Amino acid sequence: MVRLRERYFVIFGLFLIVAICVVSLFFLPCIDCGNATRVLIRSALNRPAGRTLDGQKLREKIEKALPPPDAAALASLSNAERRAFIKKMMKFGWDNYKTYAWGANELRPLSRTGHSASIFGNGETGATIIDALDTLYIMELSDEYEVARRWVSLNLDFSNTKGELSVFETNIRFIGGLLSAYGLTNDTMFIDKARAIADVLLPAFDTPTGIPFALVNVQRKTAENWNWASGGASILSEFGSLQLEFDYLSNVTQNRIYSEKVARVREVLESLNKPDGLYPNYLNPRTGKWGQQHVSVGALGDSFYEYLLKAWLISDKRDVQAKKMYDDAVDALEKKLLFKSEQNQLWYFAEKKGSRIEHKMDHLACFVVGMFALQSKNELDPERSSHFLELAEKLADTCHESYIRTDTRIGPESFRFTRDAEAVAINEREKYYILRPEVIEGWFYLWRITGDAKYREWCWEAAVAIETHCRTAGGYSGIRNVYSTNVSHDDVQQSFVFAETFKYLYLVFSEESVIPLDRWVFNTEAHPFPVRFSANASQVR
Ligand SMILES: *[C@@H]1O[C@H](CO)[C@@H](O)[C@H](O)[C@H]1NC(C)=O
Ligand SMILES: *[C@@H]1O[C@H](CO)[C@@H](O)[C@H](O)[C@H]1NC(C)=O
Ligand SMILES: *[C@@H]1O[C@H](CO)[C@@H](O)[C@H](O)[C@H]1NC(C)=O
Ligand SMILES: *[C@@H]1O[C@H](CO)[C@@H](O)[C@H](O)[C@H]1NC(C)=O
Repeated sequence: MVRLRERYFVIFGLFLIVAICVVSLFFLPCIDCGNATRVLIRSALNRPAGRTLDGQKLREKIEKALPPPDAAALASLSNAERRAFIKKMMKFGWDNYKTYAWGANELRPLSRTGHSASIFGNGETGATIIDALDTLYIMELSDEYEVARRWVSLNLDFSNTKGELSVFETNIRFIGGLLSAYGLTNDTMFIDKARAIADVLLPAFDTPTGIPFALVNVQRKTAENWNWASGGASILSEFGSLQLEFDYLSNVTQNRIYSEKVARVREVLESLNKPDGLYPNYLNPRTGKWGQQHVSVGALGDSFYEYLLKAWLISDKRDVQAKKMYDDAVDALEKKLLFKSEQNQLWYFAEKKGSRIEHKMDHLACFVVGMFALQSKNELDPERSSHFLELAEKLADTCHESYIRTDTRIGPESFRFTRDAEAVAINEREKYYILRPEVIEGWFYLWRITGDAKYREWCWEAAVAIETHCRTAGGYSGIRNVYSTNVSHDDVQQSFVFAETFKYLYLVFSEESVIPLDRWVFNTEAHPFPVRFSANASQVR
């Protein structure tokens, strides 16, 4: 009798475990949501929250309690007032993170709890704090900066992190954020922290080619690639966006090991045969052979191109190999992937999958606006300079169209060009906005470089739209559909909103002497590094 009851308990227990497993499947990050270093990675854990009745009720309560900002009043603010307003946005997001999620990687503003995406492994590593450090400093939020600095000095430690860390994300957010804080303050505590984290990543480089793997298991000191990436390949935008941080780290630690790792990556890429001059997004680190022939300036490709240009700039234009590779790469991209829409001749970059062209541009791909503007400002050849400025301005306009053709006046994750569609999202899954910076970033560069007030206005309109639709009582949140003003919040306040979106907005309304572009180079997470302080700066390649 007793035995039988025990058996029932066991069966019931097993049933419970199976049920939990099945339910948890719905909460898994979507692995094949299409294309995606950052699409995938940066949205992977944007799982819908508040599915429970309580969560739903809480959300309605919070959202009702928050009056929308007065659009007319915002439109008439002076420049100094706009700048102060952006600073207030920063402080609002920061205060909520501090209250509800201090030490966690990110904040869930509706649930008012901590949040961590899988890219950060499994630990309380304060991604938001490290990403926000330099912005707090630049905005002169000194009390907040000091609190952040103290947390870093006492608590930042990856040695207990379980699970797997993304090499790319850890590099651009953590190493980048810490080095930038050092570059701005000369506080050497940040160097020690950055070095410790870089050392955790080094096992990723133990491959036959020296091309690093994407993920590191901190406890086991092993590395591997994403299982969805073209037969075990490494991803161009990931292994191609390490140079600025690793070179600068070698300079400030006076230890060549980091710059040697990225010099090797450069060497491999330089020596490879590029089909039609293009760099496919996948490269196998064991064989040194390209994987699937997918080419994109959006997710999976993007910051590789950016880092070639910026390696040249940060070396004070001495790293001519980087500039040559950059020139060849963007010339091939322009030839094969630049199109104009049928309807209004909007210029856009498409993607190439095998021999097929997909007429889609990611929000991420709008970063090319800033890249071409920065190139134009620094070009030695006047013809190329005006050519790339034109490209930057045309593409800035296209990205702007993707914003103003929505009900929220915020652009979607990806927009497409067909006979019936122009710069709008078609798929439901491409209509979201997760507080990304790239479009604002492009307008920031164009504002600095051309002085055309239009770009500053566009930035302000985007800031007001973010304030109107992404702000909740508990912080800023992404939204699921930019085409509806009845917004559904995704309940994640991404760490990069502090590193990038708020920083670029603030700089747009600041004097040029705040982070001048001839003295600072932004990494791809908008962390500024001083020009010339790279390991090879004093040497001509
Ligand atoms: C950091 O050091 C550099 C070089 O010595 C100096 O020019 C700069 O003003 C210092 N910055 C701060 C914030 O102390
Ligand atoms: C500089 O670049 C070369 C390759 O061009 C590399 O071998 C070297 O380790 C790099 N770092 C330093 C500190 O010189
Ligand atoms: C807004 O969306 C919610 C579901 O997310 C729905 O219940 C509600 O009716 C919508 N409101 C309006 C005015 O459409
Ligand atoms: C770091 O960069 C500075 C400025 O270019 C240079 O003078 C110095 O030699 C570099 N130090 C190392 C160790 O690479």
